Formats: sequence, C-alpha cells, structure tokens
Amino acid sequence: MSISYIAKQIGESATLKLNEKAAILRAKGDPVIHLGGGEPKGKPPLDAILAATSLLTSGEVRYTPPDGIPALKQAIIRYTEDFYGWRPAPEQVMASGGAKQAIMNALHAILDPQQEVIFPAPYWVSYPEMVKLVGAVPVPVSPEDGSFIPRIEDIEEVVGSYTKAVIINSPNNPSGAVYPEQFIADVVDFCERRDLYLIMDDIYHRLLFDGRRPVNCYKYAKDRTENSKLILVNGVSKQYAMTGFRIGWAVANRRLIEVMTNIQSHETSGPSALLQHAAVGALNGIQSSVGSLRTTLENNRNVLVEQLRSFDGVRLEAPGGTFYSFPDFSHYDKNSERLSKFVLDKVQVVTVPGVEFGREGHLRISFCGSIKEITEGIDRMKWALDPNSPNELYIGQRKLVRDWK
Ligand SMILES: Cc1ncc(COP(=O)(O)O)c(C=O)c1O
Repeated sequence: MSISYIAKQIGESATLKLNEKAAILRAKGDPVIHLGGGEPKGKPPLDAILAATSLLTSGEVRYTPPDGIPALKQAIIRYTEDFYGWRPAPEQVMASGGAKQAIMNALHAILDPQQEVIFPAPYWVSYPEMVKLVGAVPVPVSPEDGSFIPRIEDIEEVVGSYTKAVIINSPNNPSGAVYPEQFIADVVDFCERRDLYLIMDDIYHRLLFDGRRPVNCYKYAKDRTENSKLILVNGVSKQYAMTGFRIGWAVANRRLIEVMTNIQSHETSGPSALLQHAAVGALNGIQSSVGSLRTTLENNRNVLVEQLRSFDGVRLEAPGGTFYSFPDFSHYDKNSERLSKFVLDKVQVVTVPGVEFGREGHLRISFCGSIKEITEGIDRMKWALDPNSPNELYIGQRKLVRDWK
C-alpha cells in the first residue's frame, strides 16, 4: 500500500498504546496495575458537568466559531490575567481540541519543511511526532550533566540557521522536573534575541508541590507587541481531570492566532460546543478541585518516592510537579523497552519505557492512581527485579513463582 512519506515517519503514541494494552489485559481478567497513565482519576468539577448537561438538554449543540465560543475565550482571557498578569485581547486567544491540537496548529502555522524545532529531553512523546507531521525536524537536546534540568547553553549549542522554534514544558512530562525560573527567563530572552518562536506548554503549571509557584514566562518577555513570538499553551485536561473533554487553548499574537484559526477551521472547525461549555464551567466555577487534586498528587508523590528510595538499584530525582516520576532503572536493564515489557509480563505492572521520552534506562511511573495501586505496583516491581526477593508472590489468589535471575 502506498502511504505518504510523512505518514511513514510517524510512530504510534507509546502511552496510548499502553493504555490499550492494559485495557485488553484487564478485560481478560489479569490483575493489571497501570502505572503508565497520564490522567488524574478524579471526577471533573461539577460546574463543568452542569454546564455541558444544560447545553445538551437544550439541544442547541451547533457549530461554533472556529476559534471557540466567546464565553470560553473570555474565560481563557481571565485565566491568563489571573496566572500571567496580563490580559490578552480576544483576537489573541483560540480554543482547540486539547492542548495537543493547539500545539499542532502552532506548528502548522510557523514551520516550513526542513526547519528545526528544539526541545529539551526527556520530552513528551508527542513533540517529535508532531514536528515530523508538518515535515519539520525535531531536535531534542539532553542536558550535558545528564540531569532533567536543561541549561540555556545546551539549547544555544544546537541552534542553527534552520532553527525556527523551541518548545518548553515545565513542570515536565515525563520527569516531573520543574525548570528553574532562571532557565525560563533565559530561554524567553534567548528566543527573543534570536527571533525564534517559543512554545510554552504549561499544561501542568498548577500541579506543583512543596509550595512551588508557577513560573510566569511573560514576566521575562520584553516584546509585548504584535511581533512577540511567544505562544502559550494550556488546557483543562490535567488540572481539572478533564482529559476526555479535549479542550485546550493557545495565546499568541493576533496574526498567528488568525492563521492558526484558519488552519483549525479547515481541519476540525471549532471544538465541540458541548465540551467548550464544560470548559467554561470548569474555568469559571469553583476551583477547589484543582487544590484537592494537587494535594492528592503531592501525597501520592511522597508515597512513591519513599517506596522507590527503598529500592536499591533505582536512582530517583523527586518530581516537583505533574503526576509522573522518571526513575533510572539502568542498574537492572539499560534497555527500557525490554525492562518495561519484563515488568508487564512477570508482574502485570504497566510502565512507559524511557526511550519513548528520549532517555534510555529510565521508566516513567505515574502517580495519578490510588495509593494502593502505587504501593502494590512498586512492591511487585521490586519483587520481580530484586534477586534477593522471596521465591513466591501472591497477587490475590494467584501464586507467582520467581523462576528467573
Ligand atoms: C506535556 C503535555 N502537553 C500536552 C498534552 C496534551 O494535553 P491535551 O489533553 O490538552 O491535548 C499532554 C498530555 O499528556 C502533555 O503531557
């Protein structure tokens, strides 16, 4: 079969594939523990449900403007003012089908084939594929010191005449690392000086621990004119546990938003009316669910960190935000795909191989599930990997026998 050159470059989403695999195993009755997921388990805010239900009951579920309904744009404007201290005009804001579509629109709008996009590794699995989808070239850059914290020098080193944009995601998926404020200041300044687009993917910015405050990229932007190349992306998926609602947004200069809106208008039209109303409910409604989600995640993080620290061969930098940790398991196996498969086959625990995020030897372990899932999942992994483990492990009625070294 003949398929396009670009399509041939695109791999499956590793994380979505694992969700599917976990669901199949569960349906077969296997006692799977899913530590590979990327969504909070709580319910969406009631205000979101009520807003969507009320529109659905009215039956007035129609096409919307391609950049989103005015009420959602107003809610995004207020959100931007609350968290970033400036008030974009409605023409500087567009709603999309998730932050994913907002990023895709931006890439379509700014990139020509062969141009390059730099982002620090480890990175969210979709960035390389999204860049390739528009015919451009992903340029991941690993911090020289092997940590999760990029330095501006690392980025400077790979910038060339083809570089068009930089993507920054902090707090970071998969490491949970929160980049230092100085790095954000440096990267904003660097992109302005070099006339590069800067996509700030702030999707986890309210899910921070230990009293950290979100960093406001605009604080460091000198260019607030129509020439600004700063593109801010966010959405309701993570902070409001509304992953399935598929609403995200972008804030950027007027011309760029106009171009991105044109692209979206031909690709999908505006996002679903129903779900935009739900997002308005979430953004304008009572915000307590975000605080409780954050507290739950911080508690889960503490439990996970304690458990992983008791694991001899594992090295871990405690996540400062998100619901992901990215421990180094290379003591057990440097090949993360093989290790992740081993853990799934032997003790039915789903993790995501670090290689998918551009860092071998690590596994991404989520802590967005229950404490029980986290503790049991890590106990099982420890049993499978530690050669000093007892010979047998019971999972419910099932007896597992350790017949490997
Ligand atoms: C870093 C990052 N950006 C964007 C997204 C996509 O979010 P949405 O559900 O709004 O498309 C995700 C989802 O996993 C993510 O981890």
